Amino acid sequence: MLPFRIEQRALSLLPSKVKNQLEAYADAASTLFEVHDPRVLGAIGPSAVRGTILKRGKQGVPTIIPASHRAYFDWTYPSDFPDMAELYTRAKRGQWDGDQLPWKTSVDPLNPEVPLLPDDFFGWDRAAAYGVKLDAKERAELRYSVASWMLSQFLHGEQGALFAAAQVTEAVQFFDGKLYGATQVVDEGRHVEVFHRYLDTKLQKLYQINDNLFVIIDALMSDGRWDMKFLGMQIMVEGVALGAFSTLYRETKEPLLKELLKNVIQDEARHVHYGVLALREHILEELSERERREREDWAFEVAILMRNRFLAYEVYEEWFEGKMSRAEWRDFIGQSPGMERFRHLMFARMVPNLREIGLLSDRIKPHYERVGLAKYFGGVAADQLTGDQMLADLDAGTVGATPARRASDEYAIAAAE
Ligand SMILES: [Fe+2]
Ligand SMILES: [Fe+2]
Repeated sequence: MLPFRIEQRALSLLPSKVKNQLEAYADAASTLFEVHDPRVLGAIGPSAVRGTILKRGKQGVPTIIPASHRAYFDWTYPSDFPDMAELYTRAKRGQWDGDQLPWKTSVDPLNPEVPLLPDDFFGWDRAAAYGVKLDAKERAELRYSVASWMLSQFLHGEQGALFAAAQVTEAVQFFDGKLYGATQVVDEGRHVEVFHRYLDTKLQKLYQINDNLFVIIDALMSDGRWDMKFLGMQIMVEGVALGAFSTLYRETKEPLLKELLKNVIQDEARHVHYGVLALREHILEELSERERREREDWAFEVAILMRNRFLAYEVYEEWFEGKMSRAEWRDFIGQSPGMERFRHLMFARMVPNLREIGLLSDRIKPHYERVGLAKYFGGVAADQLTGDQMLADLDAGTVGATPARRASDEYAIAAAE
């Protein structure tokens, strides 16, 4: 439920353009109300205003975000973290060249024989209940839009990951972590390259950055604490990215995209592994209990925010504005089978990582239980998983043990809050 809701009856009296605009503002403002913890709100609030109210990511000019963090030099070059050194070796061996992907593949985003997304990604019954009926051609076009929207958000997220990886490489105190970090910067640059090339030359469609993704990136860029950048980027954003990449990898029939995602997933598996190694050491050994709790609350709020807010409003504005309300769109897309599968894959990966780095104490567990995420508490964390295992799990459909149906219960609980 939107905590900040405009009376539907009052809205219906307004001209539709004004009404759409008001709904959009109300929805943006409600992002702020969705964060319950005042300290977390203090940390995210300014970014939320810049992203959702001022729409800094959509102004069509370069966005300048001030960054302040300390570069940590060490002139003695210690071998200080054997697990990271081993990850560095794996990362060097795992490099690949974006030019080597099968770019000659001809891609027709509307070809029903090779769909970018399966038709059952959407719950068409819900759309029909809101009076929206699409024929087969329009459904194919909507699938094309949503796939392009997802890939555009991957691309924008990768730009954020590239800069965050560079910042973290400067700021981290482990020397082995800096060497490893250099490989991640290259990885993220390659991801920007291949996603942009795919969107530009194959789909020929690029969406602007989603406001809520902008909020998270803005908050991470400007936070001076390296471990918050790490937590935000390596665990939360990479967790969402892995969930989304994995969903698309499993569901697309387009061979070039599948191959591209397969390569990217293997890199991302290392990135999350790195995040777990660095944060486990730091959170459990260096931080005070008060600081640990602050991060624990932040991670929970951000997880819920990303789940409830990453809902393709840019596609809504293109297709359905004036035909269904934003609240109806939230219901339609939020509860679509494809989004349920995405949330399942995302939390199956993210929650065990939070446990592993010490951010799933008995104090916070009831909050996760309340929104139906307790079933992920015992999952396998990233430091126990290679990219190959992750892909094998996806191919076999054995990520987490829960059927997608249960994910809709979680959504319903969260939406009812
Ligand atoms: Fe990436
Ligand atoms: Fe990454």
